[in-house]
Amino acid sequence: SLVPAGCYMLESNNLVTFEGMANSSAYHTFLLDEERGRLLVGAKDHIFSFNLLNVSKDYAQIPWPASSTRRDECKWAGKDLSRECSNFIKVLQPFNQTHIYVCGTGAFHPVCSYLEVGKKLEDSVFRLEPHIENGRGKSPYDPKLLTASMLIDEELYAGTSADFMGRDFAIFRTLGKHHPIRTEQHDSRWLNDPRFVAVHLIPESDNPEDDKIYLFFKENAMDGEHAGKATHARIGQLCKNDMGGHRSLVNKWTTFLKARLICSVPGSNGIETHFDELQDVFLISTKDPKSPIIYAVFTTSSNIFKGSAVCMYSMADIRRVFLGPYAHRDGPNYQWVPFQGRVPYPRPGTCPSKTFGGFDTTKDFPDEVVTFARSHPAMFNPVYPINNRPIIVKTDVDYQFTQIVVDKVEAEDGQYDVIFIGTDVGTILKVVTIPRGSWHDLEEVLLEEMTVFREPTAIKAMELSTKQQQLYLGSDIGVSQMPLHRCEVYGKACAECCLARDPYCAWDGTECSRYFPMAKRRTRRQDIRNGDPLTQCSDLQHHDELNGLTTLSDKTVYGVENSSTFLECSPKSQRAVTYWQYQRSADDRKQEIKSEERFIRTDQGLLIRTLNKKDSGIYLCLAVEHGFMQMLLKVTLEVFDSERLEDLLHRNEESTNTPAQDRPSPQESPSHKLWYRDFLSLVNHPTLNSVDEFCEQVWKRERKHRRQKWKHLQERQKGRNRRTHELERAPRSV
Ligand SMILES: *[C@@H]1O[C@H](CO)[C@@H](O)[C@H](O)[C@H]1NC(C)=O
Ligand SMILES: *[C@@H]1O[C@H](CO)[C@@H](O)[C@H](O)[C@H]1NC(C)=O
Ligand SMILES: *[C@@H]1O[C@H](CO)[C@@H](O)[C@H](O)[C@H]1NC(C)=O
Ligand SMILES: *[C@@H]1O[C@H](CO)[C@@H](O)[C@H](O)[C@H]1NC(C)=O
Repeated sequence: SLVPAGCYMLESNNLVTFEGMANSSAYHTFLLDEERGRLLVGAKDHIFSFNLLNVSKDYAQIPWPASSTRRDECKWAGKDLSRECSNFIKVLQPFNQTHIYVCGTGAFHPVCSYLEVGKKLEDSVFRLEPHIENGRGKSPYDPKLLTASMLIDEELYAGTSADFMGRDFAIFRTLGKHHPIRTEQHDSRWLNDPRFVAVHLIPESDNPEDDKIYLFFKENAMDGEHAGKATHARIGQLCKNDMGGHRSLVNKWTTFLKARLICSVPGSNGIETHFDELQDVFLISTKDPKSPIIYAVFTTSSNIFKGSAVCMYSMADIRRVFLGPYAHRDGPNYQWVPFQGRVPYPRPGTCPSKTFGGFDTTKDFPDEVVTFARSHPAMFNPVYPINNRPIIVKTDVDYQFTQIVVDKVEAEDGQYDVIFIGTDVGTILKVVTIPRGSWHDLEEVLLEEMTVFREPTAIKAMELSTKQQQLYLGSDIGVSQMPLHRCEVYGKACAECCLARDPYCAWDGTECSRYFPMAKRRTRRQDIRNGDPLTQCSDLQHHDELNGLTTLSDKTVYGVENSSTFLECSPKSQRAVTYWQYQRSADDRKQEIKSEERFIRTDQGLLIRTLNKKDSGIYLCLAVEHGFMQMLLKVTLEVFDSERLEDLLHRNEESTNTPAQDRPSPQESPSHKLWYRDFLSLVNHPTLNSVDEFCEQVWKRERKHRRQKWKHLQERQKGRNRRTHELERAPRSV
């Protein structure tokens, strides 16, 4: 199901798009190169180099297709020639000062090579080395498989599958001077059909010997871990200096451990709703390089209950789990329990270093350590998110989250995390988390929802450049770029800018513009924490009101009896509440319009179904937020019956050669020109049916929404679900 047109606006101004090439697709592998001002993108049969300033301006591309022999072999093996038997670029990692390591699926025959980019932008080198290496254990064979990799110190860490059938999954370390090393083969306790999402290096102490590689993936739950088939999200760790065992686990990791990542919410029936399908991970650094904050995006596994969530994890919690009990069971028919016995020394999972224990290499580890590590790769306790709950939950929408990046933004009243979330329908959500009272009580505020691709397509790659203040997005059909701050969309008034609560923006005395933390200006107004225009703009409020009103023109809208009409009015701020008022005539009493069968209030406006002659009158649309009221729209609605319509239609046809006195009098239609245009647009509207259909959809959604809102209110009374107010419904158990 698609997003109905009109719900989102494709803000084409300041959105730059590379529309893709006819002979390529899958623009999924990104490497941001801020130093050279380039975005490298790996796609089907091509490597691209885009200008960070403008991705559609002067890009370079290197075609790297699979040879025709490889393509033929791939086809004979029963694969789809057009969708699988190409070279899909999966690895794009900086190798040294001048070269980038690049690997592709090579039509089910993985290949790697070096891409020369030069030391500086001025070198303007972009060339693929002709020498091709075997890409086994680096790139998957099958382009559909989810794999992740990272190159550190000229060694490549990759979670991938290493065979044609896609059954031999492992975490590999290849390249470099050491013997390749991997996870134990065909042992479902280690990895059980994993789908890799990300690899990161996180230091454990100030001593680089303790550096650890963390892998984020999802896999099938271990045998006996879950009733029935289930997916679990995992974090895995290994030591960068792991050289494998001496007698057993030779050329296998001896420090591999994994733990489950939980992201769940309590349902109304008391059963937790789990988000297990890990989609993406983003690490944001803190003052302490050992403790980045981990943001992760999840969706649900259920086909019936569609939902997405964002959870945050701390390294302290992750380390606590890896230092906790190992998962243990005595045999296939036993339960998993926390291991109670004696744990050998050095504790499996610890790196050989001077900091902890004084072993020089994992090859010196006692046999019992290696034996224990081999049979206990999983931790018993899962990792819970900060505050034990997601920071964002989205259910009952037609889309799911796919990607996440986070930016730390300095604002007038503190530092904020602005989260950009990509979806599977080509849209971006921009969300800011605002501490309410304490850091542990976060309020998430949706700032903007933008469509960045012309057709609904999953966003598969996302990079943020703080230097360029731009966001880059990749999908099957192309690459897009958008600025982080688009302050002009919030309007010109101080109150609008303030209500937007966008930390990138502030009111500068004349308009809403980009906020620079360094420049101190007296006129600048911003209030992210409270978004309260009364304190920030009260001296300006009168002026704002005038501003608002002067831009209001009195419109007249015409409707035909028994048809429906839609009065469009959506506030610029996503959080403003709109009120509708009705007046019979200008000096009549105003009364609030409540939603009922015929009057449907939606986020986009007011839908009036089955128009009645007595619906004629003045309609006012008001936006209220934080006690600040603003009039957005004033329209006069005139309802005709069909006889009148015929009559008017007839007159209109003749109006060009009819004397002026025979045309509708000014009383009947206050503005003839406007009337004519509106009338035509109503009668001849080519998509009148689809507009009706759209409104019908909106109407249904609103009803559902109201039901859920009511349910939620009941929940609140019970004092539950205090903050996850976006989660309206728990899945019905099936
Ligand atoms: C980007 O480059 C294209 C092609 O040269 C140009 O049409 C467009 O205006 C540029 N956009 C921006 C924001 O500079
Ligand atoms: C794809 O098309 C572009 C532009 O037409 C061309 O330069 C490139 O060589 C083609 N790539 C392949 C793999 O044939
Ligand atoms: C980087 O690696 C490439 C490929 O091994 C090599 O040819 C090149 O000389 C290296 N560059 C530097 C600066 O070390
Ligand atoms: C509108 O509907 C009512 C009730 O169904 C009917 O009596 C009336 O004739 C209709 N008017 C027009 C103009 O179709």
